[in-house]
Amino acid sequence: MASSPSSFVLILILCYSIILLLSQLTNSESIQEKQALLSFLNQTPHENRLQWNSSDSACNWIGVECNSNNSTVYSLRLPGVGLVGQIPVNTLGRLTQLRVLSLRSNRLSGKLPTDFSNLKLLRSLYLQDNNFSGEFPTSLTTLTRLTRLDISSNTFTGNVPFSINNLTKLTGLFLEKNAFSGSLPSINVDGLISFNISQNNLNGTIPRTLSKFPQSSFSNNLNLCGDPLPPCNSSFFPSPSPSPSNSPSKQVKKSSKKLSKAAIIAIAVGSALILLLLLLILILCCKRRRNKQPPKLPKPIPRSVLTETGTTSSSTKDEIGVGVSESERNKLVFLDGGVYSFDLEDLLRASAEVLGKGSVGTSYKAVLEEGTTVVVKRLKDVTVTKREFELQMECLGKIKHENVLPLRAFYFSKDEKLLVCDFMNAGSLSALLHGSRGSGRTPLDWDNRMKIAISSARGLVHLHLSGKIVHGNIKSSNILLRSDLDACVSDYGLNPLFGTSTPPNRIAGYRAPEVVETRKVTYKSDVYSFGVLLLELLTGKAPNQASLGEEGIDLPRWVQSVVREEWTAEVFDVELMRFHNIEEEMVQLLQIAMSCVSTVPDQRPSMQEVVRMIEDLNRGETDDGLRQSSDDPSKGSDGHTPPEARTPPATRTP
Ligand SMILES: *[C@@H]1O[C@H](CO)[C@@H](O)[C@H](O)[C@H]1NC(C)=O
Ligand SMILES: *[C@@H]1O[C@H](CO)[C@@H](O)[C@H](O)[C@H]1NC(C)=O
Ligand SMILES: *[C@@H]1O[C@H](CO)[C@@H](O)[C@H](O)[C@H]1NC(C)=O
Ligand SMILES: *[C@@H]1O[C@H](CO)[C@@H](O)[C@H](O)[C@H]1NC(C)=O
Ligand SMILES: *[C@@H]1O[C@H](CO)[C@@H](O)[C@H](O)[C@H]1NC(C)=O
Ligand SMILES: *[C@@H]1O[C@H](CO)[C@@H](O)[C@H](O)[C@H]1NC(C)=O
Ligand SMILES: *[C@@H]1O[C@H](CO)[C@@H](O)[C@H](O)[C@H]1NC(C)=O
Ligand SMILES: *[C@@H]1O[C@H](CO)[C@@H](O)[C@H](O)[C@H]1NC(C)=O
Repeated sequence: MASSPSSFVLILILCYSIILLLSQLTNSESIQEKQALLSFLNQTPHENRLQWNSSDSACNWIGVECNSNNSTVYSLRLPGVGLVGQIPVNTLGRLTQLRVLSLRSNRLSGKLPTDFSNLKLLRSLYLQDNNFSGEFPTSLTTLTRLTRLDISSNTFTGNVPFSINNLTKLTGLFLEKNAFSGSLPSINVDGLISFNISQNNLNGTIPRTLSKFPQSSFSNNLNLCGDPLPPCNSSFFPSPSPSPSNSPSKQVKKSSKKLSKAAIIAIAVGSALILLLLLLILILCCKRRRNKQPPKLPKPIPRSVLTETGTTSSSTKDEIGVGVSESERNKLVFLDGGVYSFDLEDLLRASAEVLGKGSVGTSYKAVLEEGTTVVVKRLKDVTVTKREFELQMECLGKIKHENVLPLRAFYFSKDEKLLVCDFMNAGSLSALLHGSRGSGRTPLDWDNRMKIAISSARGLVHLHLSGKIVHGNIKSSNILLRSDLDACVSDYGLNPLFGTSTPPNRIAGYRAPEVVETRKVTYKSDVYSFGVLLLELLTGKAPNQASLGEEGIDLPRWVQSVVREEWTAEVFDVELMRFHNIEEEMVQLLQIAMSCVSTVPDQRPSMQEVVRMIEDLNRGETDDGLRQSSDDPSKGSDGHTPPEARTPPATRTP
C-alpha cells in the first residue's frame, strides 16, 4: 500500500522528463532560453497585451527573434510594454546568445542584475526611459561587443567609470538625463560617433578625447567646462581674455582657438553623418508604421525630418548661403509622397553596416531599433548642383514598377549626398551566382535564372519606356532579388549626377564599346550591358570587374570565340549541367544575349524586343512542366547549333 503513492510519483517524474525530452527534440530553440524568458515575464508586471504562449515556440513570441535555424534567441525587444520593477536575476542574464536587448520606455527600476555580464555577445542595449538607479552598472563594462549603449533618461548616480574604455566597439553612448556626478573620465573609443552626457550633475573639465562632440552633448550639467563649452577658469591664468597663443605647459584643457575650430568642423561633419543615418532609419520606420496602421498617420505631406540643428554657427559657416538657412536647405526628402511619422531618436540609435562599395559610392544597411532595415547609399563625386540633383531625384522617384527598386528618399548637402531605398533580403544576383562557389552552395537553377532574366528585363523596359530613363549601370550586383527570386533593378539613372568627368558604367565588363569613346550611356548601351548580364547568367562567369584600362575576361568575346570555333556546351555554367532538357532554351537565350552585345548599337534589339523574345522562349517551357525532372537527356540535343554571330569574329581570346 505504501509503495503505490511513491511509484505514482516516480511515474509522474518519468512522464515529465519524457515530455521535456520530447519537447527538446521537437522545439528547436533552447528550452533554457524559453524558460528564462518566461520566468522574466512571469516575475515582471507588464501590460496584458504582452502575452507569450508557453506551448508555442519562443521564436514566435512578440518581441523575440531567433537566429536563422531558430536554435537560439538573438534579440529581445520589448519597448513600451509597461514592464514594472526590477529585472529579476537568473532570467534575462541566461540569454547568453542575445545580440540585441531593448527594454526602453518601460517603468523598470532598481539596479541591473549582475548576471547581465553573461550577455557577452550583446551588441545593442537600449534601456533608456526607465527608472533604473544605482551606480553605472559595472556588468556592462565587460560586454566588449557592445556597439550601442543607451541608458539615458534613468536615475543612475555616481561617477561615469573609466572602464567604459573597455567597450572598444562602441559607436554610440547615451548617458543623458541621469544623475551622474563627478568629472568625466577620458573616454577614448575610436569608433565613437554619438555621445551624450547632457542633463547630469557633472563638473570639471571635458577631456580632450570628448571635445569633438557638440555642445549639446554636454549641456545642462553642474559645472562642466572646456572645449566645446566655454573654457574653464584657472586660478593662475585668468581666461576671459582670449590669449590663446601659448597656454601653460600642462593646461591641456585650455586648448587654443584653432583646435576649437577644428573641433567644430569635426562636429559639424560628424553630426551631418549621424543625421543621415538617422534619416535612413526614420524612413524605414515610417514605412513600417504606415503599412501597419495607416489611419493613425493622416498627414498627407512628406515630412522633412532631417534638419541641421545645434552648432548653427559652425555648420553654416562654410556654406555659400543664398538667403536660405542651412536648416531649410538640408532636409531628408521623401519621394513617394507617403505619410511618414518618425521618432528621430529611433533614427539616431540605428546601427549601420557597410554592404558594399560600388562605383557610385558606398552602401550601408541601416537597422532601426525596432528591426526595420533600409539601405542608405552615400554617393561620391557628385558634380551637379542641388537643383539638378533634386530634379533627377524627382524624376527617379516617380518610377513605380515591381521590378524596379523604388527610391524612397534622398538627402543633399554640400558634403553629403544620400539615397535611401528598401533593403532586399535575398541579396544581389552577383552574390547568388558567384558567392561561395564550390563550397556546398545550392546552385541557382535554370528556372530561377530565367525568372531573373525576364523580371529584370521588364524592369528595364519600364525604365526606358515609362520613365524615359537610361539605367546606365546594369550589372549583376545591381540586380536585387526578392525572396521569391523576382528581380528588381537598382542604381538606375544616376549617371547624370556625375557629369562627364567620370566614365559611365564604370565596370568595364558591362560597358558597351561605344561608351568608352562617347562617355554617354544610352538605351542601346543598356541593352548591351543587359546582354552581358544574360551571358553571366548562362555561363556563371563574372565579367571583367576591373575599371577602365585593366585586363580581365571579356565575356562577349570569350563566348563568341567558343561558339564560333566549335559548338560545345562548355560555355554554359557547369552548375546547369545537372538539369536536363534545358539546352534548347539555353541556346535560345544565348542567341538573345549575343544579339544584345552586338558591337554596332543599331543592331541591338530594344529592351521591349528583348522581353518579348525571352517571353516567347518561356512560353514553350510552360507546355513542358516536367522538363527539369525528366531523365531523358536526348531532348534539346538539336539545339546544338551555333547561334548566329552578328558581330565580327573576336580577334583574340582573353
Ligand atoms: C497556444 O498555442 C497552442 C499551439 O501552438 C494553441 O493550441 C493554443 O490555443 C494557444 N493558446 C492561446 C491562449 O493562444
Ligand atoms: C523560425 O521561426 C520563425 C518564426 O517562428 C519561422 O517563420 C521560421 O520558419 C522558422 N525557421 C526555421 C528554419 O525553423
Ligand atoms: C544553428 O545555426 C548555428 C549557426 O548559426 C549553428 O551553430 C547550430 O549548430 C545550428 N543548430 C542547429 C540545430 O542546426
Ligand atoms: C524612480 O525610482 C525612485 C527610487 O529609486 C523613486 O523615488 C521614484 O519615485 C521613481 N520614479 C518613478 C517615476 O517611478
Ligand atoms: C577592463 O579591461 C581591463 C583590461 O582588459 C581589465 O583588467 C579590467 O578588469 C576591465 N574592467 C572592467 C570593469 O571590466
Ligand atoms: C566636482 O564636485 C565635487 C563635489 O560635488 C567636488 O568634490 C569636486 O571638487 C568638484 N570638481 C571640480 C573639478 O570642480
Ligand atoms: C543630448 O541630449 C539632449 C537631451 O536629450 C538633447 O537636447 C541634445 O540634442 C543631445 N545632443 C546630442 C548631440 O545628441
Ligand atoms: C569663471 O569665472 C567667472 C567669473 O569669475 C564665473 O562667472 C564663471 O562661473 C566661472 N566659470 C567656471 C566654469 O567656473
